[in-house]
Amino acid sequence: MTERLTEIPAQPANDVTSDGREHPLELDTAGMRALVAAALERIVAHVASLPSQRVSDTEGGAELARTLAEPLPETGTPVPELLDLLFDRAVKPTYNTASPGYLAYIPGGGLFQSAVADLVADSVNRYTSVFTTAPALARLEANVIDWFCQIVGFPGEARGTLSTGGSLANFTALFTARRERLPDDFLSGVIYASREVHHSVAKAALLAGFPERSLRSLPVDERFRLRVDALEAAVAEDRARGLTPFLVVASAGTTNTGAIDPLDEVAEISSREKLWMHVDAAYGGFFLLTEEGKRAMRGIERADSIVLDPHKGLFLPYGTGAVLVRDGQALRRAHALTADYMPHMQSDPDLVDFCLYSPELSRPFRGLRVWLPFKMHGAGAFREQLEEKLALARLATERIRGMEGMEILAEPQLSLLAFRLAPAGVDDAEELNCLNRRLLERVNDRQRVFLTGTMLGDRFALRICVLFFRTHRDRMEEGLEDLEAARREVMG
Ligand SMILES: Cc1ncc(COP(=O)(O)O)c(C=O)c1O
Repeated sequence: MTERLTEIPAQPANDVTSDGREHPLELDTAGMRALVAAALERIVAHVASLPSQRVSDTEGGAELARTLAEPLPETGTPVPELLDLLFDRAVKPTYNTASPGYLAYIPGGGLFQSAVADLVADSVNRYTSVFTTAPALARLEANVIDWFCQIVGFPGEARGTLSTGGSLANFTALFTARRERLPDDFLSGVIYASREVHHSVAKAALLAGFPERSLRSLPVDERFRLRVDALEAAVAEDRARGLTPFLVVASAGTTNTGAIDPLDEVAEISSREKLWMHVDAAYGGFFLLTEEGKRAMRGIERADSIVLDPHKGLFLPYGTGAVLVRDGQALRRAHALTADYMPHMQSDPDLVDFCLYSPELSRPFRGLRVWLPFKMHGAGAFREQLEEKLALARLATERIRGMEGMEILAEPQLSLLAFRLAPAGVDDAEELNCLNRRLLERVNDRQRVFLTGTMLGDRFALRICVLFFRTHRDRMEEGLEDLEAARREVMG
């Protein structure tokens, strides 16, 4: 293999240029094949070894990073050297977000099928932001949006766009709500969310022009869900002060504990108080493919806008979020600007110019990375995976509950739970937090699973979030074994 790799020159000769001359940036057909083959060789070896790789080890990473700073390279480097740098050095000191043991934060995915779709999309490189320039490809992306609308229960007139992730999708939703519900002079507008909402919502509000004083951070109940009585009281108070309540953001799976706000009740209040209801379902949304998820998120279909994160719940590689808006024309009204130099835009609502529904103009053909795996495997394959994750979270909860001194702080409402060690006789809050930080370190030191912690009020909690297509029962059992061993150690 090494022999073959070293055959690839930095600047392969060219057999496809129109002027018959060699241009190094235009790879010839053999060069293209050799480059992909060389990369693929490394990729496949890497992916195949994921289960045996360490799950989080950044040792030496900062030092390596410093050595990699370099001035603009004037000449090329042979591809094997570059692949060695990537795979043998740079990829190594990382959190292994593609490991079956990655149960930290909200796991991303890394479907290889989507990586292949990206290769196709980027190689074809068509302009899918404007319908005229790539009608059939734009339609494929529109199918993806329609499928998502179907998953959340939105009507046919709903529209949406794919973004880079949940943060920008939240921004697009908040901006749309502002443009729809408030005048140009919008600073009397007030936004409501629980104190557990993802911080990208506050960022989105700032980006949409609101000062911090426009945000109300509301209390939660014992299951970390937005308290609707607090929402009602805050809206009434703000109205009495002459302000304009206009937007409530509910969570369908918070990052801290996986809490799902009472969506039906929030929808009731929203319709009574004429609030735009936005649901951040970046983590939880795709569990709507399962019956359990549908029950847990009942009422989500009443929202005005919803954010989903395919790079979470559909296991895609990082870089794809989605915003869906029930009244698709509201999304369009908020973003529909064009110019004389642009191609003709469509008036038929079935022929979507994505640039009229999004803050972006030029952008990658993101739809293909969702479309290809859905078409290859069908929704059933995703449903099955998600059901497995729900079951694994339940299994973990029951096992942890059975470990001496362990306390479940947040039962899984989907696939995320929070817990801590609270042995009898240890009452001091700081002592308990230190004990649990040690517990977390000891679990992670074993390198079979990677967990992260959070603060729930003044209590430090460990979290398990199961949302990765490579995580199955075998790895969960290993993680639970490690947790029990670590618990014994810190109690020791
Ligand atoms: C509930 C929730 N909302 C929004 C986001 C932001 O999404 P992204 O990281 O894709 O920008 C996250 C990220 O973890 C999240 O968990």
